[in-house]
Amino acid sequence: METQNFFVDTHCHLDDDQFSDDRIEVIERARSAGVTRIINFGGDFKTSNNAINLTEHEGLFAGVGIHPEEIDDFLNTDHATDKIAELAQKNKVVSIGEIGLDYHWEKDSDRRELQQKIFIQQLDIARQLNLPVCIHERDAHGDALKILKNEAKNLRGVLHCFSGSLEMSKEVLKLGFLIGVDGPLTFKNSAKLPEIIKATPLEMLLIETDSPYLAPTPYRGKRNEPAFVVEVAKKIAELRSESLEKIAEVTTRNAENLYKIRVEG
Ligand code: NI
Repeated sequence: METQNFFVDTHCHLDDDQFSDDRIEVIERARSAGVTRIINFGGDFKTSNNAINLTEHEGLFAGVGIHPEEIDDFLNTDHATDKIAELAQKNKVVSIGEIGLDYHWEKDSDRRELQQKIFIQQLDIARQLNLPVCIHERDAHGDALKILKNEAKNLRGVLHCFSGSLEMSKEVLKLGFLIGVDGPLTFKNSAKLPEIIKATPLEMLLIETDSPYLAPTPYRGKRNEPAFVVEVAKKIAELRSESLEKIAEVTTRNAENLYKIRVEG
């Protein structure tokens, strides 16, 4: 008899327009695949509110915060930190995120400094409210690490969709932060990721989809959805020569420990 494995999709964006026509079916498909809990993240005030609204569904939780590419929303909002803190205290909000640094499109040094400032301010909110953080970091490895080394005390969190080096992953683990693993692990050109996933203690890994983006093989190029997080877990099992059951069990426990999400049906 086959026992059912349970998974948590620890990072997605089900409020995206790509889910307008079939959001309920997508959530039901996730449940059928054993993905009983899903955490949706906002990136500005609007999407943070969207993520909160989605928690009306059983098993859905939210993260709220300002993404580094959305800092204008922060700058143009009066009392922005108070407003984020207010949202963060709503029912079923389990994280501040996604927050962080993204230098991929941002080449201006003043704007990059603003990203850093707003990132640090949101880390402060998380510390004050005793919430974990979900960190987005792209092409900003050095500065992100520098900030985390200064700020990580009394903070817990995850480097979502980790894209750094093996060395960086070790630094991140030393700070007690987890590594978030997504669809790119399943890609043929996954570069250094497999090595990192093999070297990281299983207790420090979270699985996530970042739906609707980054669909794993064999769905690559299509719209991603939480049910597909199982493909990420399968790839981790294969790389580490461990059972899918074990990967499901430990990554679910990791998500429960970090985000304090209650076990539901
Ligand atoms: Ni995301």
